[in-house]
Amino acid sequence: VRVLAVASEVYPIVKTGGLADVAGALPSALKAHGVEMRTLMPGYPDVMRRVSGAEEIRHWPDYFGGPGRLLAGSHEGLDLFVLDVPHLYARPGNPYVTPEGLDWPDNGVRFAALSRVAADIGHGLVPAFVPDVVHAHDWQAGLAPAYLHYDGGARPGTVMTIHNMAYQGKFASELVGSIGLPWHSFNVNDLEYFGGISFLKAGLQFADRITTVSPTYAQEIQTDEGGMGFGGLLRARADALSGILNGIDIEVWNPQTDPHIAYRFGADELTFRAANKAVLQQQFNLDSSDEAPLLGVISRLSWQKGLDLLLETIPMILEQGMQLALLGSGDRDLQDRYQAAARANPGRIGVLIGYDEILAHLIQAGSDALIVPSRFEPCGLTQLCALRYGAVPIVSRVGGLEDTIVDIGEADRDATGFKFGPVSADALAWTLRKANTTFHNKSAWRRLQLNGLATDVSWRNRAGDYATLYRNLMAARRPA
Ligand code: ADP
Ligand code: GLC
Repeated sequence: VRVLAVASEVYPIVKTGGLADVAGALPSALKAHGVEMRTLMPGYPDVMRRVSGAEEIRHWPDYFGGPGRLLAGSHEGLDLFVLDVPHLYARPGNPYVTPEGLDWPDNGVRFAALSRVAADIGHGLVPAFVPDVVHAHDWQAGLAPAYLHYDGGARPGTVMTIHNMAYQGKFASELVGSIGLPWHSFNVNDLEYFGGISFLKAGLQFADRITTVSPTYAQEIQTDEGGMGFGGLLRARADALSGILNGIDIEVWNPQTDPHIAYRFGADELTFRAANKAVLQQQFNLDSSDEAPLLGVISRLSWQKGLDLLLETIPMILEQGMQLALLGSGDRDLQDRYQAAARANPGRIGVLIGYDEILAHLIQAGSDALIVPSRFEPCGLTQLCALRYGAVPIVSRVGGLEDTIVDIGEADRDATGFKFGPVSADALAWTLRKANTTFHNKSAWRRLQLNGLATDVSWRNRAGDYATLYRNLMAARRPA
């Protein structure tokens, strides 16, 4: 099976969140299942710098308003197509926003251009790689299935994966004319969405199969609340929708070989975590103490992640003698409030605002528990890394968090962490208290850690689910 993946970020080249991790890890995991995947991404400066041996396979004097090229190249084992269109992608900042943090005003054109070329590759633009399936990730690739639909004629199968319902790629209706879509696509049964158009809706309407990144999230998004405007559409397409859990790259996240942590350890060396904890306490200006439970957070700071609720529990965290180390960036207001909490509680609350891969590894290796209090979470990856590193996850009962953590109350013997619901500061506080009590019961805590380490969080089996999906899709499309 040949699959063209389309993604706006791919680890380790460009990453703002879990989408990049997934897009970066899936291709090699799929190889073992007989799937040949190539990934199409935009030629941001970081991509142009890093992709080696790039070969130009197509050149356009005018691609959406300026010269453009399609390149084929590779990076650390990833086979890539890069859409190099300098007037759209040669910009500073992250893939979506200006250095000041505002959406680029032409994001509609930028990601329509990406999807347009994906559809063309689907039609055979690159004779050496004609895909059986085009797999679009999130709204940035949502138009790919739509272009393939409107183009008409023979086409590959299409899969749309939802990593996050909150990002819907909404633009003014006028865009339709300038990105080569037919005007009749501006219609509620097609792309129209509250008076404008939505790229996510395009993908959800026209992809042959829709997936999301956990079975529970696949259920949640069929409700009016969880669907964030698309509940009805997804209920109507329930037969095409499924949830496939994310894995993590167990080479990148391996406490036995991790170059980013102070002391490497395996399952029979959990005591070495104490040395990582000491380094972590130093880096976050926390009092050095092995006895104080150290709570870690690695997160984007956004409403989704529920970290305003954790702020409310800080008095209780202090009163219980626990410490907090938070690494994150995002909403200005949350950044300010966390920094204020750190200033007010030196030695007890440590906050670093920013994005830092290396520190993320150290938090996994040195904190006693990792907190993920999300209001919704399509899958979540940090709790999976935590399982592998012996940081006991404390998570809300939503989406992929529900599917990947076994609560101590449900199954003492097999438990891997703590789950709380409803998603409220009170429920979180109650659970943090319970975790504190459990922490001081050394054998109970050790069992949680060992169960976590024994959990399969790799892509191996989960990639197999994608391979099966692609094959079923091909079989369904083959004319009888
Ligand atoms: P989301 O994609 O919604 O942000 P995920 O849990 O799926 O959430 O993935 C987040 C990824 O980004 C993880 O690999 C996590 O380690 C990483 N990450 C998030 N915030 C930071 C940060 N401030 N510094 C370093 N890594 C981060
Ligand atoms: C999104 C979700 C997160 C998920 C990630 C990768 O960013 O918020 O839950 O793990 O995509 O699928």
